[in-house]
Amino acid sequence: MICLGIESTAHTLGIGIINDKGEILSNKKHTLETETGGIHPIKAAQAHELFYDSLIRSALKESKLTMKDIDLISFSQGPGLGQCLRRGAVIARSLSLLYDIPIIGVNHCVAHVEIGKKLCNLKNPVTLYTSGANTQIIAQSNGKYRIFGETMDIGVGNFLDNIGRYMNLGFPGGPKIEKLAEKGSKYIELPYTIKGMDFNFSGIQNKVRQLLEKNSKEDICYSVQENVFAILVEATERAVAHLNSEEVLLTGGVAANKRLAKMIEDMCKQRGIKYGICPRSVSGDNGVMIAWQGIIEYNSGKRQKIIETEIDGSWRTDDVNIIWNN
Ligand SMILES: [Fe+2]
Repeated sequence: MICLGIESTAHTLGIGIINDKGEILSNKKHTLETETGGIHPIKAAQAHELFYDSLIRSALKESKLTMKDIDLISFSQGPGLGQCLRRGAVIARSLSLLYDIPIIGVNHCVAHVEIGKKLCNLKNPVTLYTSGANTQIIAQSNGKYRIFGETMDIGVGNFLDNIGRYMNLGFPGGPKIEKLAEKGSKYIELPYTIKGMDFNFSGIQNKVRQLLEKNSKEDICYSVQENVFAILVEATERAVAHLNSEEVLLTGGVAANKRLAKMIEDMCKQRGIKYGICPRSVSGDNGVMIAWQGIIEYNSGKRQKIIETEIDGSWRTDDVNIIWNN
C-alpha cells in the first residue's frame, strides 16, 4: 500500500509518499520564510495554493509513480491555522474524488509521534514534541496519547522566532539563535517559568526584550537556550520518572536544535534509558508523517467519507482514540 500525505497546518506545505513498510519514497516541502518579520497565516495559505501542484508532481516523479499507483490520500485535519488547514483539506478531497482514492484526515501532533517511533525504533516513548505552535510532553496511557505537560501560552518554536524578531533575525529565528548561542558564554539570569508539569514563555520573552539594550545577542541567545531547554527537559524527565518509562523521543521542528538534543541525550544517559532524536527531514512539519499516519489508521480499519473531512483547528492530541496496533 502506498499513501500520499499532505501537510498544511502552518507555514509548511509538505507532500510525502510512503509505503506500508515505512519506506519513504518522497518528502517534498515548501516553507514560507521571510528576511525580517513573521509569517501571516493568509500569506502561508496563499503559498500553499501556489506550490501544491509542483510539489505533488515532483513527489510523484521522484518516487516514479503516477496518481494511479496511490492507494490512499491522507491530510492534516488539525490542529493548526484554519486558512492553511483548509487548503490542504481541499487538495486532499479533490485528489480523492478525482482519482477515486480513499481519504483519511489525521491529527498532526499524533503523526509527529508515530513517525518518530517508526524511524527511531521506539515502542512506547515519552515524547517531547517541540514545534512552532506546539510544545507538549506526550505519552500513551489507556488508549490515548495523554499530555503530561505543555505550554500555557506559546510554543517554544514561536517563542524563539519572537526573540529572533526582536533581534531582526527574520523567520525562522530558531536556527539563527542556535548559531548565535554557540558564541555566547555568559549566562544571564532569566525567569525559570515551570509550574508543576506546565510551563510558559511569554514572561521570558518580555525579560529578553529588556535585556537587549545592555547585553550581547550571543549571550542572550545562549542564556535563552540554556534556560528554556532546561525547563523542557526537566518536565520530560518528571514524566519519565512518573511513568517509569524506558524511552524518550524528541521531535518537532525544534528537535533540529543540537543543544536541546544534547540535553535530552544527557538526561537519558544518566537514567540509563533509550532515546531517539527524530531525523531532521521528518522532525519538522512534513507530508511523510501524515502519509504514515494515514497508512496505520487505514490498516486499523479507519474509513472516512468526504463529509467527515471538515478541518478542526483545535483538535487536541488527547482527543484521538488510538485504534491502531501499537
Ligand atoms: Fe508540527
